[in-house]
Amino acid sequence: MLTRRLFLEMAGAAATLRASFAAVPDEGLRAIAARRGILYGCAAATYELKDSTFAAALAQEAAILSAEYEMKRAAIEPVRGSYDFSGGDGLLAFARAHGMSFRGHTLVWHHSNPPWLEDALQSADAEAFLTNYIAAVAGHYEGRVTSWDVVNEVLQPQDGRADGLRNSFWLKRFGPEYIDLAFHTARSAAPHAMLVYNDWGCELGAPDNDRFRAATLKFLDDALARGVPIHALGMQGHLSAFGTQVDQKKLSAFLEAVRRMGLKILVTEHDVDDSGGPLDVAVRDRAVADASRRFLDVMLDNPATIAVLTWGLSDRFIDPPGWRDRLAGRYPRMLPLDSDCARKPMWRAMAKAFA
Ligand code: XIL
Repeated sequence: MLTRRLFLEMAGAAATLRASFAAVPDEGLRAIAARRGILYGCAAATYELKDSTFAAALAQEAAILSAEYEMKRAAIEPVRGSYDFSGGDGLLAFARAHGMSFRGHTLVWHHSNPPWLEDALQSADAEAFLTNYIAAVAGHYEGRVTSWDVVNEVLQPQDGRADGLRNSFWLKRFGPEYIDLAFHTARSAAPHAMLVYNDWGCELGAPDNDRFRAATLKFLDDALARGVPIHALGMQGHLSAFGTQVDQKKLSAFLEAVRRMGLKILVTEHDVDDSGGPLDVAVRDRAVADASRRFLDVMLDNPATIAVLTWGLSDRFIDPPGWRDRLAGRYPRMLPLDSDCARKPMWRAMAKAFA
């Protein structure tokens, strides 16, 4: 018979046990990754910070933030010559309040520019529209941004150039020199920031990716030989759960070639697109987790890799009509937390990869 004394003893033991579990911090990815010397974080937007459930998850999981869109030129300079830093400053304030670092994305890209820019580049003093912007933005965040994606997605071997460069309006206006100019200008404006060349295309195992990796190595080698101040390669890390997969052997060899150039490596925009698969959520989540784990195991195996950021933290804010495909009316499940900010198999796969 359960005596009153015995009941009280068991109740006390249960309370102590609960307290001991509660005392063990419910570790986020930031703590798990930090034990391996890796910064884990994600892209975010200020509107997301108003969601208290998400903000709490973000504070627990991320050690570094980047701006999903609020530090692109369309957001910072919508009107020629007048800068709006409110978005980036809001994210920076959150990062500083939660002991996070902050990375800048991105100074020069061929997308997300204000509508007046391309016309302005037809003027005689076009170079000023490149250098003044970089100086103003990198200057504003100097000392508070630890690394900058100075140029974003400048390679596109399919465009047929021998140097593999993307035939963007930047290249058409200035020739390849705009890239060197961008890095030297950023260096002057932000002497303490790590300067990153950020792109996607080196991750997967298809022949196009082989070409992309070769073009990337040649681009980096030549730029470093010219004395361009590039300190790191940013690999966006956008994967597909049911499409072309990572070839771990090819990826590992590529990373080693980058490391030998003396460059650091960051995964800057990791997510796993689960379109094209079956309806079953458990199957999609498993495939997303497996793809992430196979990729991160190789990335983290190379000592040059210093940070992993996912392109968002929770499926809650994925805007499918944007550059991601909507899954026949269902929403993508591409990130470590689900739309309720609960941890998914991808979260567990990343935790294992970091551990
Ligand atoms: C995308 C954002 O997710 C969108 O919100 C924004 O409207 C456009 O840019 N590669 C990049 C990112 O380097 O900056 C892009 O992010 C996705 C592709």
